[in-house]
Amino acid sequence: MSLWAKQLLKEMGLSLQPAVGTTDFCFAPINIALCKYWGKRDPVLHLPATDSLSVTLPCYGAWTSLKLSLQDKIILQDQLIDPQGPFAKKVFAFLDLMRLPGQYFEVRTELNIPHSAGLASSAAGFAALTRALAKLYGWKAPAGTLAQVARWGSGSATRSFDNGWVYWPVGVDPLGRDSYGQPLPDAEQIPGLCIALPSHRSLKEKDFSSRIMMAHVASNSLLYEAWLKCSQRDCSVLRGALQQKDLSLVITTAERNARAMHATLADLEGFYHYETPESWRLKIKINNLRHKGWPIGWTQDAGPQVKLLCHIDDAASLKKYFPQYTFTEIKPDRCS
Ligand code: PMV
Repeated sequence: MSLWAKQLLKEMGLSLQPAVGTTDFCFAPINIALCKYWGKRDPVLHLPATDSLSVTLPCYGAWTSLKLSLQDKIILQDQLIDPQGPFAKKVFAFLDLMRLPGQYFEVRTELNIPHSAGLASSAAGFAALTRALAKLYGWKAPAGTLAQVARWGSGSATRSFDNGWVYWPVGVDPLGRDSYGQPLPDAEQIPGLCIALPSHRSLKEKDFSSRIMMAHVASNSLLYEAWLKCSQRDCSVLRGALQQKDLSLVITTAERNARAMHATLADLEGFYHYETPESWRLKIKINNLRHKGWPIGWTQDAGPQVKLLCHIDDAASLKKYFPQYTFTEIKPDRCS
């Protein structure tokens, strides 16, 4: 186990002596960033180079259980995962920070969203795994502590411990003790935003992992410097818009932020992008509707899925333009 993980676990009072041999399924929701995490100040601790801001979709996410075992095993949607594959390696690297020598786990995960499609399944997955670890080891830690630990597995997982609007600041601490997802104050928790996700059938796996692309862009794209400025401006505009209860400004700013994030790929030598013909078609359709006066926008992560953003009052009318989408209202309640 790395020294930094040992030090932080000790400081947090988190022991690695199992309290039970097996846990129930623990749930964590997905979160969708409206101001993106894209670039790191520390690639090992997954400390971001920019603040980010997300909303949680409490009806979608991951359920994970843990069992002490003779060897590591991951079962995802009832399928045994190749232990040499990139997904298992990421999970085992996280578990290596969380165990004493000779401890192995059977990890069982169920999702009600597709994985590896840019739908934040890894955020929900690592948050649910952290909650299961807390059960296994008998941790009585607050959400903020678990949010910090989950970040060691996948940065965006740190924003999956609260409902409503969640902010993840860059922080200044080299060990990231001040950089984890925290609910925005009540004044910035506004209802009325609707996020629509595509139905499962239309999903395609993403081609380039966010981890690899963030590093590639930070080292090789001149547009990365501009992105850092865009992100700072967008997070601040978004927080102002939430305070003023201006959902239309939230939607247009979130879309601009997503466009800026994806634009960083344009300065790379190879042709990297997360588009499909369908994602372009949807964005053009959204733009046309906006020109007709609908306050609608989109956001997109490191995958081809286009998520729609609109006002809840418009959801029923917009549904006919996007029959393949499921519309969900974002509620500012904390996690139940
Ligand atoms: O947590 P990761 O390493 O899967 O990064 C995800 C980053 C984005 O989804 C592209 C943006 C975000 O803030 O969620």
